[in-house]
Amino acid sequence: MSNTQSQNCTITLDGKTYEFPVIIGTEGEKAIDISKLRDTTGYVTLDIGYKNTGATKSAITFLDGEEGILRHRGYSIEDLAEKANFMEVSYLLLKGELPNKEQFEEFDASVRHHTLVNEDLQNIFKTFPTGSHPMGQLIAMISSLSAYYPKALDPNRSAESKNRTTLRMLAKMPTICAMIYKKRMGHPVVYPNNNLDYVSNFLSMTFKHVSEPDYQPDPVVVDAMNKLLILHADHEQNCSASTVRLVGSSQSNLYASIAAGVAALWGPLHGGANQEVLEMLEQIKADGGNVQKWVDKAKDKNDPFRLMGFGHRVYKNFDPRAKIIKKTCDDVLNKLGINDPVLEIAKKLEEAALTDPYFVERKLYPNVDFYSGIIYRAIGFPTDMFTALFALGRLPGWIAQWQEMLNEGQPIGRPRQIYTGHTPRSFVPRGERQ
Ligand code: CMC
Repeated sequence: MSNTQSQNCTITLDGKTYEFPVIIGTEGEKAIDISKLRDTTGYVTLDIGYKNTGATKSAITFLDGEEGILRHRGYSIEDLAEKANFMEVSYLLLKGELPNKEQFEEFDASVRHHTLVNEDLQNIFKTFPTGSHPMGQLIAMISSLSAYYPKALDPNRSAESKNRTTLRMLAKMPTICAMIYKKRMGHPVVYPNNNLDYVSNFLSMTFKHVSEPDYQPDPVVVDAMNKLLILHADHEQNCSASTVRLVGSSQSNLYASIAAGVAALWGPLHGGANQEVLEMLEQIKADGGNVQKWVDKAKDKNDPFRLMGFGHRVYKNFDPRAKIIKKTCDDVLNKLGINDPVLEIAKKLEEAALTDPYFVERKLYPNVDFYSGIIYRAIGFPTDMFTALFALGRLPGWIAQWQEMLNEGQPIGRPRQIYTGHTPRSFVPRGERQ
């Protein structure tokens, strides 16, 4: 597969005409390659929030926001969520192909081999006040992994070293997330059981308790968790993936780059929205369940309130992940026999918003975060853990983006700006300033 360049783009500036190549991706998306724009014309482009800027070429994920399409390495998200498990999707993202039986077994075993974290990491946990946010702890724990694996500090050391760091990162993330949960509950840490698959092991480290030593994760929960992780596994050049690539482009190590991605994900406009959605639904419930009142608040430009879990930078038709999650949510709650009143509120809110001209005109639809929290809660996770679960799912995507960036030898990311501050002025000594 390669990009084709079949036409040029002509730009006229200051009476002079310049030609720039047009790049066409394998799915037909078009871009004007302006990498020589400043050198040839003296101009830069201005695109605040990168709404129209392709920061890279990438062969990992294809997303068509107008049509509601999401594919990883050519495979539809619907097929992957239905037919694959999270480890297979991780392999696909990282290596470009679905694994055959032997490849899967080898990859899965290599990840299992690295699930323990250094015992000293627990000392770092002890210094966090109980109740501190899981995402703050996650950032610190991931970045401190670099202290235990100094060979990983050079991301270009060797292919073998890069692969080992990738396996370690994948393997230790569930262990760290489960430790954060245990610390939050004030419970002793449960060590990994490498006889279990990735998701079962994570659930076991999280929910197994001294009073229930024979805990076995419910297959319904394992299946739902696999789906949720797959649905979060990659989403091309979103805020956190772009952060991972930008940090990694300075040749920072994988642990530092992923910690930065987790920090970007934490914000309520990105992954932090899943926590905000549940809190919003609880607030609506406590307020009497009048969804129209909250839809009106979201429309009111004098009110900072936004409907969390609604809207997306690129999806302008529907978010295919949200469709799958809504169905999974119904299935899981039914199978677990849980009747959560916030699910009813969520459905009413969706219905009210989808028929409201404000949301219709702005093409605002439920996104991946709208229903995921209800499933996490049904499984037993506290609300402030939700974004850490998003991070667990997004991890293979971040690593794949980081690897692609390094393997293609991309230069350090360094945007330009249009300066709008003072022009030169004379320095006034402190005593003489007004
Ligand atoms: N509630 C009410 N109005 C909204 C919402 C919302 N959730 N989202 C966007 N709008 C309005 C916004 O006020 C603006 O209106 P106007 O044109 O009158 O000024 C218009 O829709 C366009 O919004 P925008 O903020 O310019 O769009 P954006 O592409 O910069 O932002 C977004 C996308 C996801 C940050 C935004 O829709 C939002 O804040 N949603 C709520 C937070 C959320 O659910 N985030 C999770 C995103 S999906 C998970 C992930 O991958 O991160």
